Amino acid sequence: MDLPDSIAAIGEQLGADREIVADPRLLNSADVFAAERQRLFLRPWVAVDHQSRIEEPGRYVRFEAATRSILLVRDAEGELRALRNVCIHAGYPVCEAEEGPADRLICPYHGWEFAADGRLVEPDLSARIDPARLRLASHPVYVRDGLIFVDLSKPAAATDEVEDISITPDIVPDWLPEANVTARSRYATNWNWKLALQFVRSSPHLFSHDPESDDFVVFGPLSLMSAQPNRAILVRVIPRSAAHTDIQIIRMAPPATPLENGPDRLAEALRQAGDAETVAEGAPLDRDFFSWYWSFMSAG
Ligand code: FES
Repeated sequence: MDLPDSIAAIGEQLGADREIVADPRLLNSADVFAAERQRLFLRPWVAVDHQSRIEEPGRYVRFEAATRSILLVRDAEGELRALRNVCIHAGYPVCEAEEGPADRLICPYHGWEFAADGRLVEPDLSARIDPARLRLASHPVYVRDGLIFVDLSKPAAATDEVEDISITPDIVPDWLPEANVTARSRYATNWNWKLALQFVRSSPHLFSHDPESDDFVVFGPLSLMSAQPNRAILVRVIPRSAAHTDIQIIRMAPPATPLENGPDRLAEALRQAGDAETVAEGAPLDRDFFSWYWSFMSAG
């Protein structure tokens, strides 16, 4: 897929060390969004949640990443699987609920049933079709320091060994694997994802109990974490279309910390930030942002 002109122009301007003059289509074009989905959104590893969300065998939770719907399933043996929520019969979603029991995943359209490991169990077509083709597509999934990471760039079978996911050790609290998730929230915006990400990166105080905090641990292109001694917040930027992006946050604290009921500073900040145009002025996409962006988009 060739890069749209508006993206290629960023590379030319960076290469010539010229001032970056961003084409407005970078924030609203479906072609740009398609190229970004292919070259950037699918990059590993995206941190999607905390393991406490899905500890019990026989449960699933549904999440979205890179415009895909994924079912995170803990099978009867306790193994985590990241299954594409696309039925192999006619391509409809197998599950529309946020979470539920996963002994069997039953597609509501024509009733095909899948085991928690993604195998088709009903109808039994194995006499006519290679069983390897009779399963939901899946992706590598990995748990590190209690956080669940998924690699959407390749099928699960392609990964025998998972590379180490780098997390700077001294800024990850040692309680993180046993953390209590104290709040989980999702915020819809009508901003392009680049504006949403830049807003998050330029507002670390909104994701921290420490007003001095100014840094994130970054996982892949679209997930990051703010970590302090007694709090951590996982932030996900979820592109839905060129002009719609969700921001999800998962607040974590040491075990037995009560659920949070305080004021929602992020909701208020998003409301005050206004429309996409105002956000672009408040947290502009600068040369550093475009250098980061181009490192993904130019990599093919
Ligand atoms: S699309 Fe799932 S059973 Fe037909």
